[in-house]
Amino acid sequence: MDGNGRWAARRRRPRMIGHRAGARAVNVCIDFCLERGIQALTLFAFSSENWGRPAEEVGALMKLFLNALEREVVELERRGVRVRFVGERSRFSGPIQQRMQEAETRTAHNERLHLNVAASYGGRQDIAAAARSLAEDVAAGRLHPEQIDETAIGARIALADLPPPDLFIRTGGELRVSNFLLWQLAYTELWFTDTLWPDFDAATLQQALDDYAARERRYGLTAAQIVARQTPTDTKDAPSA
Ligand code: FPP
Repeated sequence: MDGNGRWAARRRRPRMIGHRAGARAVNVCIDFCLERGIQALTLFAFSSENWGRPAEEVGALMKLFLNALEREVVELERRGVRVRFVGERSRFSGPIQQRMQEAETRTAHNERLHLNVAASYGGRQDIAAAARSLAEDVAAGRLHPEQIDETAIGARIALADLPPPDLFIRTGGELRVSNFLLWQLAYTELWFTDTLWPDFDAATLQQALDDYAARERRYGLTAAQIVARQTPTDTKDAPSA
């Protein structure tokens, strides 16, 4: 969700005005996913590196975060959204950690939309935590090093119970992933737009989905192999009317 600061600067307003407008764009996105049956949405709200921003901006972002949690959770629960947070939770204040926990508990039974908020999150940190957890099991004799493969690492990475993202969207014109879901994005389609996050709306999201729908995902195979996989070779596999 990049571009809040520039959005505000273009209006000669403080950066926080951009972040507040950014929080409204989050709601637009959630509405879109609910209407269109998109089952999982992961938002990069605050990176591990964002702690290094000026204290005033970090403090104001934390306030915005806490307010959003207090304001939105009841409605999210009502609409069938399951909220989860990924990242280093212990770095947040006690009240924010408590609200995060409450939001997760309160919405844990929902399945319509998985809304994952990456907060104090870093993809490398995520992979390192998975490696540490595997190493602990090896040291304790619960796991053999030979058992460490992609499946074992994938099972200990954030959001392991969800399929990897189909589509990654970055707003604000920068062409990089910036330490977001590094493991999970291996075969994700990437989509970039110059639109600043507060201006991100349903039309732009639709444009991203249209572009995604026109792409061919080959996962390292040839185009012919992908077509063969999708075409029933035997009539018993053919869809029935
Ligand atoms: C990046 O824009 C945005 C952030 C670091 C904060 C994102 C937060 C929100 C959208 C609002 C709160 C979200 C939730 C889930 C309640 P930037 O500041 O880097 O913009 P710039 O590159 O133009 O300076």
